[in-house]
Amino acid sequence: MLNRRKFLLLSLFAFVNQVLSFSSFASTDSRKKIIKFIPSTAEAIPAIGMGTWLTFDIGHHSDEVLSRTQILKTFLEAGGSVIDSSPMYGSAEKIIGLCLQNIQGNPQIFSASKVWTPLQDHGKQQIENSFRLWGLDQFSLLQVHNLVNYKEHLQTLIKLKSEKRIQYIGVTTSHGNKHSLLIDIMNNEPIDFVQFTYNITHDEAEHILLPLANKKKIAVIINRPFDGGNLFRHAKNKTVPDWAKQENINTWSEFFLKFIISHPAVTCVIPATSKIKHMQENMQSLYGTLPSQSLRLRMKEYFKTLL
Ligand SMILES: NC(=O)c1ccc[n+]([C@@H]2O[C@H](COP(=O)([O-])OP(=O)(O)OC[C@H]3O[C@@H](n4cnc5c(N)ncnc54)[C@H](OP(=O)(O)O)[C@@H]3O)[C@@H](O)[C@H]2O)c1
Repeated sequence: MLNRRKFLLLSLFAFVNQVLSFSSFASTDSRKKIIKFIPSTAEAIPAIGMGTWLTFDIGHHSDEVLSRTQILKTFLEAGGSVIDSSPMYGSAEKIIGLCLQNIQGNPQIFSASKVWTPLQDHGKQQIENSFRLWGLDQFSLLQVHNLVNYKEHLQTLIKLKSEKRIQYIGVTTSHGNKHSLLIDIMNNEPIDFVQFTYNITHDEAEHILLPLANKKKIAVIINRPFDGGNLFRHAKNKTVPDWAKQENINTWSEFFLKFIISHPAVTCVIPATSKIKHMQENMQSLYGTLPSQSLRLRMKEYFKTLL
C-alpha cells in the first residue's frame, strides 16, 4: 500500500521526468561559445563547468533533488558539460547521479570526481562507489583530492586509465595550499589535469602554477572562482563599471569568470551554485569574447579598490 508520503514522492518524480525530458542539449545562445582544449589530447571542453561542494551536498530531501535537477538541467541546456565532485562532498555524488537519472535524453557530460582517503585500498573502493553513485561506466577525469596519498592513488588511476575506465587523471588543491608539492607533482608525474584556486583577489597562481601548466601541457581546472561567494559580498551595491560593460562584461559574475577563463593556461572554471538564477547568470560567461591582457589588468586593479 502506498502511504501519502510515498505517493507524493512518486508523483514528484513522475513530474520531474515529464518536465525534464528533452532530447537536445544545444544552447540557444547565438554568441560564440568559449571552448578550450585539453593539451594531452586536444579534446575540446566548454570553459565554464560546475562545482558541487556544499551546493549539491543536500542530504536526501526529495524537493531538494528536484531543485538540483533543475539547476543541472539549466547548466546542460546552457552548453555546460564539466561537473566536478568528490567523495568528500557528503551526498553530492549521489545527488548528481539522481539528477542525471531524472534528466532524460542521455546528456553528454564531462564527469570529474576525486579520490580522497589516506589508504590506497580504500581509495579503490571509493572510486568504485563513485562509479555506482554517478551511474557511469567511465569517468572523464579522476583526481587525487588535496594531494592526499597522491603517490599510491596515482598508481591506481594510471591503471584505471590504461583499462579505459578513466579518460584523464589529475590532482587537486585549493585555497593556495600545498603549492610547492603541487609544483613537484606537475614536474614529475604523468597527469593530464591539475586543479587549484585562482580568482581576481587570489592571483598567486599567475606566478608559477599557470605558466608551469602551460609549459608541461597540463589542463587546468580553477576552483573557488568567487572565493566561496566573498567576491559578490565585496561588490554588493556596486555596479559593474561602464568601461567593462563596453567590453560586454555586464554582470559581476561575468567580471569574475571571464577574468579567469581569459588566462591562456586556464582550461575550465567550476563555479558552484544552489540557485537556478545564479546558474543562468554564470553560464552567460560561456559566450561572447574574452578580455584582452590589458583589460584583465584593469579589472584586477579596479577590483582592489572595492576591497
Ligand atoms: N580541493 C579541491 O579539490 C576543491 C576545493 C574547493 C572547491 N573545489 C571545487 O570547486 C567548486 C567551486 O568552489 P566553491 O564551491 O568553494 O566556491 P565558489 O564557486 O567560488 O563560490 C560558491 C558560492 O558563490 C555563490 N554564487 C554562485 N554564483 C553566484 C552568482 N551568480 N551570484 C551570487 N552568488 C553566487 C554561491 O551561492 P548560491 O548557492 O547562493 O548561488 C556559493 O555560495 C566546488 O564546488 C568544488 O567542486 C575543489
